[in-house]
Amino acid sequence: HKDLLDIESLSPDEVRHIFDTSARFMEINSRSIKKVPILKGKSVVLFFAEPSTRTKTSFDMAAKRLSADSFSLAATGSSLSKGEGLKDTVLTLQAMNPDAIVLRHSLSGAAGFIASHLDCSVLNAGDGWHAHPTQALLDGFTLFQHWQDFQDKKILILGDIAHSRVARSDVQLLSMLGCRIRVCAPRTLLPRGIHNWPVEVYSSLDKACRGMDAIISLRLQLERQEAGLLPDLREYSSRFCLQPGHVQKAAPGVKIMHPGPINRGVEISSGLADCADSLILEQVGSGVAVRMALLYLYLARSKPDQEITEE
Ligand code: CP
Repeated sequence: HKDLLDIESLSPDEVRHIFDTSARFMEINSRSIKKVPILKGKSVVLFFAEPSTRTKTSFDMAAKRLSADSFSLAATGSSLSKGEGLKDTVLTLQAMNPDAIVLRHSLSGAAGFIASHLDCSVLNAGDGWHAHPTQALLDGFTLFQHWQDFQDKKILILGDIAHSRVARSDVQLLSMLGCRIRVCAPRTLLPRGIHNWPVEVYSSLDKACRGMDAIISLRLQLERQEAGLLPDLREYSSRFCLQPGHVQKAAPGVKIMHPGPINRGVEISSGLADCADSLILEQVGSGVAVRMALLYLYLARSKPDQEITEE
């Protein structure tokens, strides 16, 4: 593929190959010297028109550890703030001949739109409510490192499903790998087409947690709520904030996950976020390895047999 826009365009074999490649980069990342010359001479533009800590930093770190040059552009400080449109901005970037553009944007479909105008690779770092494929891949890879096999694993995705690109991409990836998925949310935070998703829908968090092997709590996306529909935070947290009592109903050793950033005490209790079964910071570490694997696989695609070399 030229671009990574969503999970739907990947096959299970391709996902497995991404996980296997990520595992090799996890090993390299555990060393004291982490830099390898695999993408020397390649250049990557990190174009983040929405805020990010994890995705932007880990893509930047991934590019640098592969010896690629990375360049950052944000909405503020760029000519976007002077009214330049998305198409003109990315055509301008392409004229500088980068090998990839990593895009985060508030509009669903923005990554696909720019990919259709560009010759270089486009990696979607989150577009509106649509997709966050690299987050889903790092979530899946984090679990893969613990489980190896996903068949019939039971996963609950909890919280603001309606506005979450992570929920959409996680459901696509984890169901493709053989997991059984539940979602739990207030009715107002479920998307309209939820009954077409391959999930069971719960409104009681107590019932939803029963027997789960992993629980992924999602951030309440306060910036994306429609006017007048913002949930009352106290009422929301009293019903949907993940607490130790809920987790006791899950399978022993249940994995606690959250893509971040966290609203502590709103969607997950502080104690659970920091508990021994929490994989939240492990997800962040996996994110660097998965993004190294993706940059390697998409940018070295002109030389598919190129080995990961350390010289
Ligand atoms: N999970 C995630 O996308 O985090 P950032 O917004 O910090 O990149």
